[in-house]
Amino acid sequence: MKRILFVDDESKILDGIRRLLYTERNRWDMQFAIGGEAALQACEAGSFDVVISDMRMPGMDGATLLGHIRDRYPNTARIILSGYSEAALATRAVPVAHRFLAKPCSASSLQSTIEQVCTLQELLCAPEIRRAVGSIGELPSLSSTYLSLAQAVRDPESSISHVAEIIEDDVAMSAKVLQLVNSAFFGLAQKVTSLPGAATYLGMEVIKNLALASEAFRIFVPGSRIPQSFCESMQKHAQCTAAIAGALPLEPKTREIAVVAALLHDIGRLVLASAMPDQFCAVRALVAERKCKLYEAEEELLGTSHAEIGAYLLGLWGISSLAVEAIAHHHRPTRVPHSDLDCTVAVYLANLLAIELEAHPEGTKGLEIEESDRACLETLGVLSRMDEFRELARQSYS
Ligand SMILES: [Fe+2]
Ligand SMILES: [Fe+2]
Repeated sequence: MKRILFVDDESKILDGIRRLLYTERNRWDMQFAIGGEAALQACEAGSFDVVISDMRMPGMDGATLLGHIRDRYPNTARIILSGYSEAALATRAVPVAHRFLAKPCSASSLQSTIEQVCTLQELLCAPEIRRAVGSIGELPSLSSTYLSLAQAVRDPESSISHVAEIIEDDVAMSAKVLQLVNSAFFGLAQKVTSLPGAATYLGMEVIKNLALASEAFRIFVPGSRIPQSFCESMQKHAQCTAAIAGALPLEPKTREIAVVAALLHDIGRLVLASAMPDQFCAVRALVAERKCKLYEAEEELLGTSHAEIGAYLLGLWGISSLAVEAIAHHHRPTRVPHSDLDCTVAVYLANLLAIELEAHPEGTKGLEIEESDRACLETLGVLSRMDEFRELARQSYS
């Protein structure tokens, strides 16, 4: 049975939730704590799969409580409940909460959110990897991008589209902005899948809060083990892959999601670099020694790859499930069935074309395709179109 803890400073609200979820009592072991201190005591008695906490509480508020839970029980999924009028307050919880729910919350959105995070917990079976991903609040951004964003949000003259362009340059910031805008907190009926759309919806004030007041964005500090060049080349590869995904002949809605998924497709590498540096270095060493593919080395050493790790984190953060699926399978797209050029195929292709162009910026027409990729492209039914795609990629790559 999944163990779920609800935290609020008002017992009336907890009683309401208990009544709302009465039908789930045989599936979920639900506990209720009045206030942060009582919640931590309950966790000490036995850890939980999910903690759902109110934001505004006297003494220890929701963000502080979830921060403690992240540090002590990283396996636990963390959800914050907050009122619509408290947008600025909720940004304080961005670094520590996986999901945001708006108050008052319906039984169905409570149920589906709890169910989604529980299902995701089963996706990554290795507990140490789940713990590492769960412990992450923020991922590293390049300091130059962070400085331009901080400057832009302080400048009364700058436009929201300019701010969106800066955020789009950075994988970690893009993921955080999409997490926040897609939270039930903003009550949108449909997921927002484009960065400009997300920035416009959140507005300058919230982004300013995210950038300056909360600790949602962390600057990458190059160490001796993980060099600055890794972070820079990762960001560049992400942008190149996103540009190529945008140039592929896709349905408009598929294109919008594919561009975001392409931008975030290797976010699992940032997760490994920042939360599991030992394993990250061991993987790099194995790739150098064997000249094998990165995901193959990861699968051998970790039992999973950056593709699943990134998908798990973004799934916890509530990013569109089509994007999450495309990211999970971007190296092994034939594991799932496809309909023509769907999001997953698009991200797989865009990544392949980006890697080719990075190695051969002078042009890739007629270039030999590796055997494993050839078999995959054939199964996906797109092998004969490679030259067409290569030309589109070349045009988008500058
Ligand atoms: Fe990858
Ligand atoms: Fe990639």
